[in-house]
Amino acid sequence: MTQGVRGTRDFYPEDMRVRNWLFEKFHSAARSHGFEEYDAPVLETEELYTRKSGEEITQQLYNFEDKGGRKVALRPEMTPSLARMVMARSGALALPIKWYSIPQCWRYERTQRGRGREHYQWNVDIWGAGGIEADAEIVSVLVHFFRSVGLSSEDLVIRVSSRKVLEEVLGSLGVTGGAFSETCIIVDKMDKLPAEAIEAQLTELGLGPDAISTIQSVLGIKDMGDLEGALGSTSEAVSELGSMFSLFESYGIGDWVELDASVVRGLAYYTGPVFEAHDRAGELRAVCGGGRYDRLIGTLGGKDLPATGFGFGDMVVMELLRDKGLVPDVPHGAQDVVFGMGAGLRGAAMEVASAIRSGGRSADLVLEDKKMKWVFKHAERLGAERLVMVMPDEWSRGAVKIKHLGSGEESEVPFDQL
Ligand code: HAM
Repeated sequence: MTQGVRGTRDFYPEDMRVRNWLFEKFHSAARSHGFEEYDAPVLETEELYTRKSGEEITQQLYNFEDKGGRKVALRPEMTPSLARMVMARSGALALPIKWYSIPQCWRYERTQRGRGREHYQWNVDIWGAGGIEADAEIVSVLVHFFRSVGLSSEDLVIRVSSRKVLEEVLGSLGVTGGAFSETCIIVDKMDKLPAEAIEAQLTELGLGPDAISTIQSVLGIKDMGDLEGALGSTSEAVSELGSMFSLFESYGIGDWVELDASVVRGLAYYTGPVFEAHDRAGELRAVCGGGRYDRLIGTLGGKDLPATGFGFGDMVVMELLRDKGLVPDVPHGAQDVVFGMGAGLRGAAMEVASAIRSGGRSADLVLEDKKMKWVFKHAERLGAERLVMVMPDEWSRGAVKIKHLGSGEESEVPFDQL
């Protein structure tokens, strides 16, 4: 009863400081690229997520009936809510829209390093722009964030491919329609399941051994030349990816991205370029993932609108930042600590703290009788800049004593100059 729910986290103030630091980096990377923030409720109708394609995410749904008998679910991801919001305003939105959000998402997953049952997921999406320029812009936001927290292309790689690769391969094998997204979901598990299990699932979908080995060999490609060799020079996937890689050069992020045809993503709705960021050491799960999903609104019963974006969890990146020693010591935030010497000066200390606060600085007021030693320690623990001491002699002259904790310098400052 006194324990939290398995796979969920408490954020004590020291954790919250780091979380706020991380989120501020998310905010500023998105804003630097002209994105605007939106939000949606954590509770949605279950229907929004029940896509019949064998995706893990729909099996991990936290769903229940509410007191009115409605089937609802905690969102496992933000994209369907975003699609719902865009749909509701379709026609009224000035396109393209560039929106971002940092929602908490819930998935009944097996908990492991970097994966919990709730996580915060930074989402950055562009709707209403069908060209690969939008996909490249999305990846640029991502790299901007990585750089802002001190990560480099030696720490991370963004593996890029396109759903069109598999679509073309399957097309050449005579597989079309519904089996496509199911194939994507199966091959997405290639690095998690043994080859035999993947082959068994593909066989169940109706693919023969030759088709399976063709798929496996194409998915092993990591070079544009080889991709062209496999798909032919008129391949749309090849020309799309070739153009994207040249846009990455224009953005100056060429060293962050690599072609990797095995990236297909485990969600049914992707239609074009897809990508995932991984730590170079290969020790962690995907740091983030995204791609183009031009037909999601159609599956929800609306008129399709091109869209591309990514989701970026707060857990794996924190593991990586901790491993690299890149998590800063975020200070408490109080700039001043105000202390009145003795009960007789408590009112004066309140007057001083109020003046400081009205002046726009943050001040923590010592509320009880404490020894000077405790007060110093306390100010140090908070990382305060100044200790403002209200002492009998100084106060009788209408002044306070201020100690600058960085330099150790002390001075007497008149109250009206605080
Ligand atoms: P996703 O790959 O399912 O995509 O999740 C995106 C990211 O969310 C993952 O790479 C990971 O960082 C984080 N994440 C997912 N599940 C967990 C978990 N259980 N614990 C911790 N972190 C997790 C999507 O959700 C798509 N809706 C992303 C997207 C947005 N595509 C286009 N726009």
